Amino acid sequence: MTTAIIGVGNIGGALAPHLVAGGESVVLAAQDQARADTLAHELGPLAHAASVEDAIAGADVVVFAVWLDTIKGLIAQHERLLENKVVVDPSNPLGFDDKGQMVRTLPEEQSAGSVVAALLPAGAHYVKAFGTLGADALASAANREPQRAVLFYATDDEAAATTIERLIRAAGFEPLKAGGLTDAGRIEMPGGDLHQASLNGALLDLDEARAAVAAGVHA
Ligand SMILES: NC(=O)c1ccc[n+]([C@@H]2O[C@H](COP(=O)([O-])OP(=O)(O)OC[C@H]3O[C@@H](n4cnc5c(N)ncnc54)[C@H](OP(=O)(O)O)[C@@H]3O)[C@@H](O)[C@H]2O)c1
Repeated sequence: MTTAIIGVGNIGGALAPHLVAGGESVVLAAQDQARADTLAHELGPLAHAASVEDAIAGADVVVFAVWLDTIKGLIAQHERLLENKVVVDPSNPLGFDDKGQMVRTLPEEQSAGSVVAALLPAGAHYVKAFGTLGADALASAANREPQRAVLFYATDDEAAATTIERLIRAAGFEPLKAGGLTDAGRIEMPGGDLHQASLNGALLDLDEARAAVAAGVHA
């Protein structure tokens, strides 16, 4: 299985080394090809760099580690290539206002996940994941002991669930399903009750994470 990571910034740059450390093959792409080349070189034989188009075409799984508006553009551009692929979306509905303040870019009731999933071709396997922690925590908390930290995911798709559980484990975390696509907003920020930002920065173990999922369901 090959995982394309599109974007090697905070999230893609944290995820790629974890996946390689867990034995996964990755292909890296970015706007600035030199950044993808450099990181792939650092990561060794399980990693290589490619153009966005070639990375998507050659992968079984595509992680869009880019901002929401960029994801929309890339899906429009590469829609045909995404057919039958697992598409992993870590995005948040965030942007900056004219004063440089971070603002929500979608209405409260609309998740970034619902927007991304609706743009994909019918045969793509959508899952929301890898955005539930801040990038620093994602980078530093792999293989936590004695209990691994949980990464939540949300999907309606069984194939996507199986694949993301494998990748989350390979990355050194414990996977836990937060729910289906309608629950994607629970693991986004701002506002998602299961996002690290709403948990005072806490990293949850599996028991704590199960309790948090259930608490939100019954709220
Ligand atoms: N940062 C966090 O703590 C955090 C936490 C949870 C979720 N997220 C979500 O994760 C996503 C990525 O965030 P980030 O902080 O990693 O962003 P980032 O550091 O700004 O990195 C974005 C990456 O996207 C690449 N990129 C931009 N336009 C592209 C294009 N057209 N084609 C290919 N690559 C392109 C950039 O490449 P170049 O550098 O070459 O321009 C860069 O590598 C966002 O949706 C964000 O909401 C972020």
